Amino acid sequence: PPRPDLDLAALVRTIPDFPKPGIRFRDITTLIGDAEGFSESIRRLTDRAAVYRPDLIVAVEARGFLFGAAMATAMGLGLVPVRKAGKLPGLTIGVDYELEYGVDRLELHEGAVVAGHRVILIDDLLATGGTILAAAQLMRNVGAEVAAAMFVIDLPDLGGSARLRDAGLACETLIA
Ligand code: PRP
Ligand code: HPA
Repeated sequence: PPRPDLDLAALVRTIPDFPKPGIRFRDITTLIGDAEGFSESIRRLTDRAAVYRPDLIVAVEARGFLFGAAMATAMGLGLVPVRKAGKLPGLTIGVDYELEYGVDRLELHEGAVVAGHRVILIDDLLATGGTILAAAQLMRNVGAEVAAAMFVIDLPDLGGSARLRDAGLACETLIA
């Protein structure tokens, strides 16, 4: 049953100095390991996603898959993975994006998302926004529309939500 009172933030564990000294890592494994926490997270995400009337869920590797898979089955939609370079077996299209140091690359199977699709992008966490903006670029490159980008956690101090606002991308988050 729905638990609108449930405090999801209290189920996220904070690990100091991971992966580097000074970083306070927000760990969703404790949230998804809690039966009510996980199901309530998916309920809130799908309730918000439904408003956008998407026809596909597109999830970002790796932790986005956990939430995207559950959302897709709950909503009766297909799930498309966006993966790090070299992981998808078929023909791919890719986009390079800047990291703090160096570049990374996200890939999508050709034909998995096509012109006219209206998608929800899902990831566990929004930090600088670099990852989700790269995924959104991939969607635009194939002619699809991003109805909204959704996250369980926003770290507003890292500027991602402001960048998405500037880019005109609708953004939904459960916890800040
Ligand atoms: C984390 C997180 C998001 C991204 C957010 O993934 O799960 O995908 O970083 O950061 P950004 O907003 O600054 O781009 P990570 O790169 O650690 O990969 P993983 O999920 O495969 O572990
Ligand atoms: N937790 C999980 N993923 C992250 C974080 C965090 O605190 N910061 C950037 N990516």
